[in-house]
Amino acid sequence: MVRGAECARTKSRLGDPKTLKLHHQPSAQNTLDELHAASANDKQRWSERSKAAETDNSSGGGALVRLGEFYLAVSRDEGEFLYVFARAIGARNIVEFGASFGISSIYLAAAAKDNDGTLTTTEVHPEKCAALRDTFRQAELSGVVNLLEGDARETLRDINAPIDLLFLDGWKSVARQSG
Ligand SMILES: C[S@@+](CC[C@H](N)C(=O)[O-])C[C@H]1O[C@@H](n2cnc3c(N)ncnc32)[C@H](O)[C@@H]1O
Repeated sequence: MVRGAECARTKSRLGDPKTLKLHHQPSAQNTLDELHAASANDKQRWSERSKAAETDNSSGGGALVRLGEFYLAVSRDEGEFLYVFARAIGARNIVEFGASFGISSIYLAAAAKDNDGTLTTTEVHPEKCAALRDTFRQAELSGVVNLLEGDARETLRDINAPIDLLFLDGWKSVARQSG
């Protein structure tokens, strides 16, 4: 049972539950607004690619480094859930498998910052990695993010334990192989 005082403490730690936006981290919120707007074009990109794929068979489907133009990102609701969940459990050592263009990473990194912790995130696509560095700088979160470039099955081998929160969002086929 959660007692009143405990409930009030959690509420003041997380802010107003009706506005789970990151208003207290305006650079992070502004960067998220831009990224969510850009990711909304994934559908359009997908239909253009599907049409191209009917005539072009050179994409090497199945490779680890692929679909570089797609965000494949969490929604705002899912991202806000990640932020609140990480805050609620006081996660300080947060790890992410598959950053893409950094939408989920920003929610997790913002929580890590508010918890005096860090986010270790991973991405295998070189162009996404370059974009991620700029994104974390723009969001003013570079100081709490450690971006590991390359196959996360290798780069995460020596990660510090214990991990408080692990977000697995790489290719599902890779997750199945590793499991
Ligand atoms: C679904 S997207 C991640 C979306 C991101 N979490 C978000 O919500 O904004 C999956 C990403 O995982 C990356 N990825 C897949 N397998 C990987 C691996 N073995 N190591 C590192 N990154 C990987 C892909 O390049 C892709 O960018």
